[in-house]
Amino acid sequence: MSAAVPSASINDADATLQHLLGRYSVGPKHLVEPGPDSAQLLLMAEAALRAPDHGELLPFRFKLVRGAARTRMAALFEAAARAAGKDAAGALIDAERALRPPVTVAVLARIDLGHPLVPAHEQWVCVGGAVANFLNAAHLLGFGGKMLSGAKVRDPGISAAFCGPGETLLGWIALGTPARRPAGPSRKGGATQALQDWG
Ligand SMILES: Cc1cc2nc3c(=O)[nH]c(=O)nc-3n(C[C@H](O)[C@H](O)[C@H](O)COP(=O)(O)O)c2cc1C
Repeated sequence: MSAAVPSASINDADATLQHLLGRYSVGPKHLVEPGPDSAQLLLMAEAALRAPDHGELLPFRFKLVRGAARTRMAALFEAAARAAGKDAAGALIDAERALRPPVTVAVLARIDLGHPLVPAHEQWVCVGGAVANFLNAAHLLGFGGKMLSGAKVRDPGISAAFCGPGETLLGWIALGTPARRPAGPSRKGGATQALQDWG
């Protein structure tokens, strides 16, 4: 496993990492056409599959919402907003959230609560890793994206429309070409806050 890496690859890897370190989430109002095509979405899913996954349980699944399916999701968002007490104008804003991103990817978690070896929190970590890898791949392919949820993930109509038995709707990844790309250093402080010596 320790084969020498040619220096050109190291340079490529460094450039890729530097590009990755510039990733910020890009919200739906800054996402425009074109969205990723099927081949690019498959690459994002491949990246998601590289998330650490104790027991190889594959505790996540993605569902693509694109083209005409966006209108169906908008109707679900609008109905959920009305059920939550929003007026017609507020519900339309929610519907617009479904229509705006060129591609939306629903993230479903399939957590096995009774697994004998892998507790639920480890499975959730895999789901998080999958989302992060998916977003990182989108960024490296030149797209912007943002993970979104909100109370509507718990709306019974929306949940039933996306989830199979035992699945939880985590939320949606909005994807598209970024009309504007946030830049600059991480807002979370330096890496030394996250990485410290122990002992
Ligand atoms: C599971 C999950 C759900 C989220 N839901 C929302 C949301 O509904 N609205 C929102 O503004 N940000 C939400 N976020 C946070 C954004 O996706 C994003 O991480 C945050 O704005 C920080 O931006 P950054 O990725 O550029 O650091 C969610 C993040 C995760 C992991």
